[in-house]
Amino acid sequence: MQIQEIKPENLNPEKFINQKVQEISSTVGNGSAVNALSGGVDSSTVTMLAHKALGNRLKTYFVDNGIMREGEPGKIISLFRKLGVKVELIDAKKEFFKSFKGIIDPEEKREALTQTFYKNVFAKLVRESSTKYLLQGTILTDVDETIAGIKRQHNVFEQLGIDPQKAFGYKIIEPLIQLRKPAVRTIAKALGLPEEIYARHPFPGPALAVRVIGEVTPERIEKVRKATKIVEEELSGVKAFQYLAILHEDKVTGMRDGKRDYGFQIELRCWDSTDARIASPTKLPYETLIKLADRITKEVPGVVSVTYNITQKPPSTIEAV
Ligand code: XMP
Repeated sequence: MQIQEIKPENLNPEKFINQKVQEISSTVGNGSAVNALSGGVDSSTVTMLAHKALGNRLKTYFVDNGIMREGEPGKIISLFRKLGVKVELIDAKKEFFKSFKGIIDPEEKREALTQTFYKNVFAKLVRESSTKYLLQGTILTDVDETIAGIKRQHNVFEQLGIDPQKAFGYKIIEPLIQLRKPAVRTIAKALGLPEEIYARHPFPGPALAVRVIGEVTPERIEKVRKATKIVEEELSGVKAFQYLAILHEDKVTGMRDGKRDYGFQIELRCWDSTDARIASPTKLPYETLIKLADRITKEVPGVVSVTYNITQKPPSTIEAV
């Protein structure tokens, strides 16, 4: 079934919010629902909508999968606490790293993550909360790319003929499925989320796992996490849609203190885009790029090469995996 997009120019935030709150209430009835918050714009917006609809019949979880950015779980949980939403932290780091073991292929990596999230972690949370529903922030761009066979986005099921009830034992509610990013931001703002959330850059559900080419291990995630922190610090004043660091699989010969150092490569990407469907590399000042390379090679252990991607999407995609 074709999903009808609600374009930003046709979006009435108040009407949309009321309608979705009503839909969530009537679907869940007197029961309860669980909700997975990752701190991105989409899942934060769903959290607020569902909280409005269900109050304390909504259980919100933040799943620490070990592949988040530095300090993310604590930061998001305390931000939502200030908004009156209680969030429970689930430590699933071991489960996720176990599922990534030995996997190199991008789509297999995405599949491992999807299965761990939905079949193991969420299914257990849903069972323990004796609910039938999981709320999540799938948006139209996620669906498009999955159907087009570009990338299997971690949160798309029905459009691929997968019935979540049969596959995982619960139903999935997706209040944002008719929206793209700019419209989600409008709703997030109207729901009272702070600017640090509604204006936040997109961040993929599979997190840093899609920014590691090759096997995802705690050590390799740590490298890309450190590089990500530097990129976010150095580019925070730049007007861009999204910026990121990628850890490559191949090593290259470098030198340090006059000696050979066979080390890692980090690729940087910074994108101009409105809704992620097409994107162009941001024309970053050369001095900024040099500073990024200097900091990353000094501060991320073992990195001897930093490159900047200058390809358009298409043929590139925004993430590397
Ligand atoms: P690509 O890499 O396909 O990314 O050009 C388009 C936008 O989607 C984000 N992205 C994802 N978001 N689940 C998500 O929730 C995913 O599996 C996923 N893969 C990519 C990406 O960061 C960009 O904003």
